Amino acid sequence: MGTTFLNGNWEAFSQSDRTFVEMLVEAGQQHLFADWDAPGTADDAKAAFLSSLSKIDGNYPGGLSGYISNARKLLAEAKVGGNPFEGFVPHQPNTVDLTRFDETYDHYEALGQKQFSKTGIVLVAGGLGERLGYNGIKLDIPVEVIETTPYLKHYAACLKAMEARMETPRPVPFIIMVSQDTGPKTLQTLEQNNYFGLRKEQVHVLKQELVPAISDNDGALALKEKYELILKPHGHGDIHMLLHTSGLAAKLEKQGIEHLMFIQDTNGQVFNAMPAALGVSVEKGFDFNSIAVNRIPGEAVGGLAKLVGNGTEMTLNVEYNQLDPLLRATVSPEGDVPNEQGFSLFPGNINVLVVRMASYVQILAKSQGIIAEFVNPKYADETKTSFKKPTRLETMMQDLPKLFGPNEKVGVSIFNRRWSFSANKNNISEAAAKHVAGGPPESGASAESDFYLAGRMRLEAAGSSVTPADEELILGVPFTNGPKVLLRPSFALTLSEVREKISGCSISGEATLILDGKDIVLENVELSGSTALVVKACEGAKVSVKGVFENKGFDLVKLTSEELASDRVPEYLKIRGFRFENRGAAIHEFDQPGEYVVEV
Ligand code: UTP
Repeated sequence: MGTTFLNGNWEAFSQSDRTFVEMLVEAGQQHLFADWDAPGTADDAKAAFLSSLSKIDGNYPGGLSGYISNARKLLAEAKVGGNPFEGFVPHQPNTVDLTRFDETYDHYEALGQKQFSKTGIVLVAGGLGERLGYNGIKLDIPVEVIETTPYLKHYAACLKAMEARMETPRPVPFIIMVSQDTGPKTLQTLEQNNYFGLRKEQVHVLKQELVPAISDNDGALALKEKYELILKPHGHGDIHMLLHTSGLAAKLEKQGIEHLMFIQDTNGQVFNAMPAALGVSVEKGFDFNSIAVNRIPGEAVGGLAKLVGNGTEMTLNVEYNQLDPLLRATVSPEGDVPNEQGFSLFPGNINVLVVRMASYVQILAKSQGIIAEFVNPKYADETKTSFKKPTRLETMMQDLPKLFGPNEKVGVSIFNRRWSFSANKNNISEAAAKHVAGGPPESGASAESDFYLAGRMRLEAAGSSVTPADEELILGVPFTNGPKVLLRPSFALTLSEVREKISGCSISGEATLILDGKDIVLENVELSGSTALVVKACEGAKVSVKGVFENKGFDLVKLTSEELASDRVPEYLKIRGFRFENRGAAIHEFDQPGEYVVEV
């Protein structure tokens, strides 16, 4: 075969190239080899093309022929346009309410803390971040700019803090999914910062690959030009495939890891919810625990619903634009109606997941880690025979329960929103527009503001008196300049730890409090105005802090329009529109073990 349409190139192919090309032709991809130049012209480009096809073939379970046949099946279904939830009736899922810091919360935190030694953290960080438009990886962006702590450094500090709280410390496995866009810079950041104190062996970087775009309902792979495919991201559901194909999930299970917690690249709040969420997973025996927030009906956030029907039931994320029509067509003619507190019965998915390893590994083996792929072609017209532009198969990590059977238990843990979720996804002007529209801005400034808010929530939960500053708009994005409270993970991971270490404190206005170190105790500390107190203590340094502090602290300085346009101002400041200047903060650092008193 081949010689005719391959214009004489067939003879130059190796036997394995021939077999591979034959497979592709059988899979309907003859067009990839049409118009080839005669041997001697563009031979390097041809070889590169074959090698890129063969790489994709090797990366996808079932190879390219599997990808093409999955695409055909899903495209045929999409063309018919059936309701994916036909026959299902939505019910409230199995929820645990953790929106209040009460005994229930403490109970689950205590249980979760015991589970730290059997937990791994999975960070999906392969996204392009187009909405933010940052020149670099999102993990390098600081979550706050008083001390300029990048997200990755903060996450690593949380893992170290988990280890410090284990009875027998062991490294917490840290799995980071990158893509070709984020991989090199992620590795560079890790190497340059000595893995932020983590052991290199505990960090597992898995790279997701792009998948080929598809130009028609027959699954024809789309060409950018002769000898070059169009490739597109396959989505964050790739993490399941990579944990399977790398053998890592099975290996970690053998090493005693019982739960994996999946987190995203820019959510500094996520470890606030981690201990209690783990506790819920352990006590309730959830195979899949979705960390969620209360959602107002109609809000553009996926709703978690238990779908009952067709002889089965499953708890899934239902996109908000599908949920309302589904409710109207089944149980609720008024659609998604609020409860007494104004919230939907269907909590909002924030894509933070706690997965039980034992069932996960089995499901990965059965599915080869391909989790509920879907396709979303934009058709050229209602005949649905051609697309406006090539499409591709996608997968989302939250769809894992689509593969669950009757024995797997799915639950939802509902947390206070800004305590558990505040992402940095949007550039300033988009963020300002979102704020005007009444939604969360999810930008650099709002994420930083919420990071301090979570610190204040911790202090309040420990009985401190907290009076916040007024919210202001900076370039149209709301920001509350204080009190700016950073209780580093080394200081506390749970509320009970904060209660043990802080008593009788009061903090107000634009004050700042930063505590970094396990053995710092505050008693009757008072900070007001713009006063800042920073205490850092190394392992073995016990520091007792008392008194009413007064100084000029950290001043918020808004960037001028020249600074916003200047190349000399770091981009991480420009994406929020301000910086801080130290005007005399009280900074006490202890780098030698011993007992110390800071008193004014
Ligand atoms: P986002 O919704 O933030 O998307 O992804 P994004 O691709 O990063 O940003 P935009 O849409 O281009 O603006 C949620 C999480 O999933 C990861 C992201 O890195 C983020 O942590 N992700 C997304 C992947 O790891 N791989 C993907 O293919 C897509």
